[in-house]
Amino acid sequence: MQGTRLDTARIRAARRLIDPVFLDTPLYRCEALEPALGCSVSIKLETANPVRSFKGRGTEVVASLLAEHGRRAVVCASAGNLGQALAWSGRSRGLDVTVVASRSAPVAKLDRIRALGARLELVDGDFDRARERAADLARHDGIRLVEDSLDLETCEGAATIGLELVESTPPFDAVLIALGGGAMATGVGHVIKALAPGVEVICVQPVGAPAMTYSWRERRVITTESTDTIADGVAGRCPIPAVLDDLLLVADDAVLVREASIVAGMRMLLHHGGLVVEPSAALGVAAIQENRDRFAGRHVVTIVCGSNVDVDAYHRWVGATS
Ligand SMILES: Cc1ncc(COP(=O)(O)O)c(C=O)c1O
Repeated sequence: MQGTRLDTARIRAARRLIDPVFLDTPLYRCEALEPALGCSVSIKLETANPVRSFKGRGTEVVASLLAEHGRRAVVCASAGNLGQALAWSGRSRGLDVTVVASRSAPVAKLDRIRALGARLELVDGDFDRARERAADLARHDGIRLVEDSLDLETCEGAATIGLELVESTPPFDAVLIALGGGAMATGVGHVIKALAPGVEVICVQPVGAPAMTYSWRERRVITTESTDTIADGVAGRCPIPAVLDDLLLVADDAVLVREASIVAGMRMLLHHGGLVVEPSAALGVAAIQENRDRFAGRHVVTIVCGSNVDVDAYHRWVGATS
């Protein structure tokens, strides 16, 4: 495989920096989902941890290294889950954490960021506005900016999911990865292509937030004017060039799914898997539903990557009948 920015030895080393509470998450066949999806489905469950998403893996690496180098303060932009995870990882290491988020991010995510002791600054506009503001703050205050997916630690942390997958049995044919900024897809994809190259790496985005998928398909950065999706964790408009370069090396495909399929996926994970998930975590199941022929007879792993939802919105989505 041509070189990504990632390195498998560093990913193995990253594992040692991560609190075990985020590691070795359950991976299991979910047979109850299979009749409806027409293939063997395994779930990699990244929600049973103190921040209810996979982002703790990356923030543990970031915060460990910052603390080791005596840094006291850090700022990040977040759609909600990275901020929560950085607040958690920073708290135990005495870091002063600032999170910049959109005012329209899910209230549950914003509340948890504050509850974990981070300073939360809200901006009008979307996640990409929050990115600009976080960069301004870092420049002005002279503190470390954590840029999700661009900073290697965030990708290396997420990549440890890949190590756990390739060490698992029985083998699987494809892995479905929710694609936002790309830390998870490039991290897990790097490990899969390095250690289990026969496994298909498929990234999934909503039709309403397609910038990285369009960019992957066109092999150049394509930005969009806006996003329109309930999957707030993956709703970016401005792909990062270096991350796209890595994604081009490790992803076999990038697919887009409809909002109705995301909702149906959330409902299936609740009814057949007993799992409350946020919309971004249902993208994999949504992709299988929309492409049943492609996956028929194969063993597919989907990473269930977050469960931070506003309860009212969740009830509206999963309770609706269409
Ligand atoms: C639940 C969830 N799924 C998927 C993603 C997308 O991950 P990435 O930005 O690493 O592509 C995020 C990002 O925050 C997320 O919170």
